[in-house]
Amino acid sequence: MESPPELIDRAAALLRDARHICVLTGAGISAESGIPTFRDAQQGLWASYDPMQLATPEGFAEDPELVWRWYESRREYVRKAQPNPGHYALAELGLRARKLTLVTQNVDGLHQRAGSSEVVEYHGNILRDRCTAEQFVVDRAPEEAGTATLPRCAGCGALLRPDVVWFGEIIPRQALLLADAAAADCDVFLSVGTSSLVYPAAGLAESALRAGARVIEVNPNPTDLSRLADVQLRGPAGTVLPGLLARLGASGTS
Ligand code: OAD
Repeated sequence: MESPPELIDRAAALLRDARHICVLTGAGISAESGIPTFRDAQQGLWASYDPMQLATPEGFAEDPELVWRWYESRREYVRKAQPNPGHYALAELGLRARKLTLVTQNVDGLHQRAGSSEVVEYHGNILRDRCTAEQFVVDRAPEEAGTATLPRCAGCGALLRPDVVWFGEIIPRQALLLADAAAADCDVFLSVGTSSLVYPAAGLAESALRAGARVIEVNPNPTDLSRLADVQLRGPAGTVLPGLLARLGASGTS
């Protein structure tokens, strides 16, 4: 279902005139890259497991090997995935906007691979490992990845874990501060491919609204944010975002 041209034009005009655009993306923008959204039924082998159990400190403590096998399978999806036109459109918008802060709830790194810089990874990055004892990021050689079922820190021997935020864990401080500041300062908030259900990420749009920002939502389905959005663009990000960029025209946003 295409969004009516007048809605695309209205959204493009908001982006063109924006002083500071804050973008929040969710799993929906990577759906067209073949990565299942978080609330899609688990794919295949993992259909009988509940991510709400596996993506938790308790789940990892109880069965670190099972959790690692689940993450290695998700890493395979991510490694095979390619950025789609939605990711590239946001990278282009970042080049043309006066100021743009891109906050993503996704852990797949596809925004960076599409050319976006300074991406705020609100929930971390699935391709990075972190030492469970020293809490710093550990770079494992790619050939090591996927080999050890229970990878350990070469420095202290503690278990490694994926450098992602699990349910019940806090958002990395730097990401939290950057996202909060952008939401409070922006004059246009662009929400793409998120169900707007999980806080504190879902609170960013509310913070932007309180600060007087206009909200544009790109999602094929309505969400809790829809009723608060100035413009709702009902469609897949891989189609809607390039269409938005095209309407910005050569004049860009400056
Ligand atoms: P969800 O799976 O909750 O929502 C995905 C959203 O994307 C839905 O609103 C879909 O309608 C929409 N969608 C699907 N296909 C799309 C497309 N082609 N283009 C645009 N939108 C599309 O994923 P998130 O909202 O990202 O947290 O979930 C937020 C957080 O909940 C995740 O980061 C994860 C999960 O718990 C953690 O892992 C901590």
